Amino acid sequence: MAKLFTGLQPSGSLHIGNYIGALRPFVELSGEYDSMLMVADFHALTSLKSASELRSNIIGVTKDYLAAGINPKQSIIFKQSDVQEHTELGWIFQCLVTVPFLQQAHAYKDKVAKGLEANAGLFAYPMLMAADILLYDTDVVPVGADQRQHVEYAREAAVKFNNSFGETFKEPKERILDAIATVPGTDGKKMSKSYGNTIPLFGTKDEIAKAVMGIVTDSSGGRPENVYAIHRSFRTEADLAVLYEANKGNYKALKESLIEDIEAVVAPMRAVRDSISDEDVVVVLKEGAARARTRAQAKMADVRAKIGVTI
Ligand code: ADP
Ligand code: TRP
Repeated sequence: MAKLFTGLQPSGSLHIGNYIGALRPFVELSGEYDSMLMVADFHALTSLKSASELRSNIIGVTKDYLAAGINPKQSIIFKQSDVQEHTELGWIFQCLVTVPFLQQAHAYKDKVAKGLEANAGLFAYPMLMAADILLYDTDVVPVGADQRQHVEYAREAAVKFNNSFGETFKEPKERILDAIATVPGTDGKKMSKSYGNTIPLFGTKDEIAKAVMGIVTDSSGGRPENVYAIHRSFRTEADLAVLYEANKGNYKALKESLIEDIEAVVAPMRAVRDSISDEDVVVVLKEGAARARTRAQAKMADVRAKIGVTI
């Protein structure tokens, strides 16, 4: 069975754009592969310096994915810091690539362009991510478009290692998830936590309703385009044609209908999420780490022998 691997940074609350663009397609895809989902807590350390925040984000993001339909008996779900082979292999890759190569990485370049000081962890970030992916002989890496370059870097790390030490790593391919649908936010621009225009995924019904009622509409046409653009992710165009024709100009009714459609998707997931305790998450991540570690250790035994540290 082909292997799928992806990672996500534990960074706060998700919005419905994340769900439509990343979670939902990932959950659908994960059933077709031998799938691994990693909480990238060591990557988060490049920007986050609060233990309580990191801890609660790790628990939160794991609950989000379980609630969205990831089955931990099928897919392996674990956190990066539990499997030491990731940092070990990351170091080995750092010794194979050059400084100018890493200087071309977007995350690092953007930080420097903003006049900010990047830590060495951020600089080496793509090699830790390469280790995440390559440790498990991954075939496909589902990610957002912003991560495309990092998967290219992982291929480069594989080629560099194979050229120096013999065929060891498979070259993975990215699968860009958000090419399919970009959900606009309440102001019509791309929904993004950085723009403050989101509809929360695991918010209460009231919070979702408040965000939807706040969608900016212009009064020129019969159809509120910003409402429609979000609605498209929840219902077929044929359904919507009938609904929008029947409620021409009645923006309030259309927004109420959107609230109900979002709620129909979110309510069952919210109920599942509420039923998962922090202790449940600890158990899931522990079991996932044990399974991941078995695979990682086997791979690293080969790597260690090939580079010459096994004597
Ligand atoms: P944000 O823009 O809110 O910071 P992230 O960059 O953390 O979101 O995105 C996480 C994932 O969610 C990305 O891989 C992307 O595929 C998806 N995503 C984010 N915003 C949207 C959106 N508005 N529409 C569709 N997918 C999105
Ligand atoms: N860098 C990714 C992000 O910020 C998270 C990540 C870490 C990842 N390791 C990975 C994604 C391996 C895919 C594969 O979204």
